Amino acid sequence: MKALNAPTRVVDLILTCLGGPACQCVEARAVGPRYNRKVKTFYIETFGCQMNAHDSEKVVGTLVTEGYQQVETPEEAELVFYNTCSIRDKAEQKVFHRLQQFQRDGKGKKFAVLGCVAQQEGEKIFEKAPHVSMVCGSASYNQLPQMLVQLDAGNKRVTGLSLDTDQTFETPLTRRDNPHRAFLTIIEGCDKSCAYCVVPFTRGPERSRTSASVIAESRKLAEMGYSEIMLLGQNVNSYRDPSPAAWDFAKLLDEVGRVPGIRRVRFTTSHPRDFVQPIMEAIDSNPSLCNHVHLPVQSGSDRMLEAMRRLYTREEYLQRIAWMKACRREIAITTDVIVGFPGETDEDFQTTLALLDEVEYDSVFSFKYSRRPNTHALALDDQIPEEEKTRRLAVLQEHQRQIQIRRNASYVGRVEECLVEGFNKATGQWIGRTSQHKTLNFVRAAAPSAEDLLGRYVDVRVTRSGPNSLAGECVN
Ligand code: SAH
Ligand code: SF4
Ligand code: F3S
Repeated sequence: MKALNAPTRVVDLILTCLGGPACQCVEARAVGPRYNRKVKTFYIETFGCQMNAHDSEKVVGTLVTEGYQQVETPEEAELVFYNTCSIRDKAEQKVFHRLQQFQRDGKGKKFAVLGCVAQQEGEKIFEKAPHVSMVCGSASYNQLPQMLVQLDAGNKRVTGLSLDTDQTFETPLTRRDNPHRAFLTIIEGCDKSCAYCVVPFTRGPERSRTSASVIAESRKLAEMGYSEIMLLGQNVNSYRDPSPAAWDFAKLLDEVGRVPGIRRVRFTTSHPRDFVQPIMEAIDSNPSLCNHVHLPVQSGSDRMLEAMRRLYTREEYLQRIAWMKACRREIAITTDVIVGFPGETDEDFQTTLALLDEVEYDSVFSFKYSRRPNTHALALDDQIPEEEKTRRLAVLQEHQRQIQIRRNASYVGRVEECLVEGFNKATGQWIGRTSQHKTLNFVRAAAPSAEDLLGRYVDVRVTRSGPNSLAGECVN
């Protein structure tokens, strides 16, 4: 059996301490009282967005603190966690497929469903999959230690399903997967009610962390060697510091970008309604804030935006784009689009294509509309046939591919700073990430393995481009 999270760095060595009675380290004090419990193994698989990915990092930290040990496969584990996503029907079905695989041969294991499907389906999951013994939504993760005790005691229906909370999920330990870029949640939940979206039902109302705790965690991350921070929330723009300091998102962003050692700050996701000009002013004046904004538009048609209850018009959206284009640095702009929302005509769809041309996005995440439980749009007539949604999606993706070919070609000849994130042995290329969040694969004149570049920042001259990435040569 291979345990995950083998210590790779000094900080991890400290974090792997399980708190023996004689140990005086900080982690030992955090986990000491649980030292004597029998070590159990767990496996976790995560679906969905970055918020979910980071929740899992915190859940893993909580489980390790409780004395559990992470393993690589569900077969090896005594306790199997699925942290689920419900944003589209296909995402929701994934967890039930996984659970079905273990319906018969999962004897001796316990199964727990976490995340958005857990919150949405609640106790119905026990009926659909009787071998599941824990169902817990993200608003209840603070109760995980008590829930694990119940599970240990043989309780077969352990639940954490209340959405009535003003708390955010904090842990003494977080097991981050990426050694250079750290996720950091600043706000949980969502107070919008977009007509197609399950998130307000699965993640509850908005609640922000204090600015002091965000800055303290950013400093700690810098001390641990992280150089990039990604601030997370379903709508980071509506961040409101609950402490008397009362910082808004623009202020918080700027201050995180001033933490010594933090070279890059990103954030996701923004809502156009709450994306105010001071956010762009902060980005324009603080070089640590990356040259990239992800601003989901969903549709280019005012009629559709209204039906989707997005709370902005095409013109208001384009105003935000104009702020980005007026910056001294070139800002990469990405978005999300839904095709085939109920009532979307071909004309509406053409208006969306025209918006893509007007903005010239660097990348677009596009989805076929999926009917979701509890949402306002569920009751709408005039559903678009599946084949038509598929056709529109293909047309949109090809349209955007051509835009990306043009956008990326404009980078050829430029020198971009990259954070080195990996090395591709097959091609002999390093994998870098630019401030614009573009993948830039590059070669280096010195023997590739002579010096480990991972986690370093290097300058790369772009020599070639494709629709989805850039290629180049390291110049320093
Ligand atoms: N908070 C983010 C979105 C989170 S969901 C925001 O406001 O933009 C990520 C994306 O999934 C959304 O931007 C939307 O494009 C897509 N999405 C959400 N619900 C969907 C649904 N019912 N069908 C298809 N796509 C959906
Ligand atoms: Fe969903 Fe809209 Fe909230 Fe985004 S802002 S999470 S799309 S309800
Ligand atoms: Fe999915 Fe929940 Fe994120 S529905 S996209 S995991 S907030």
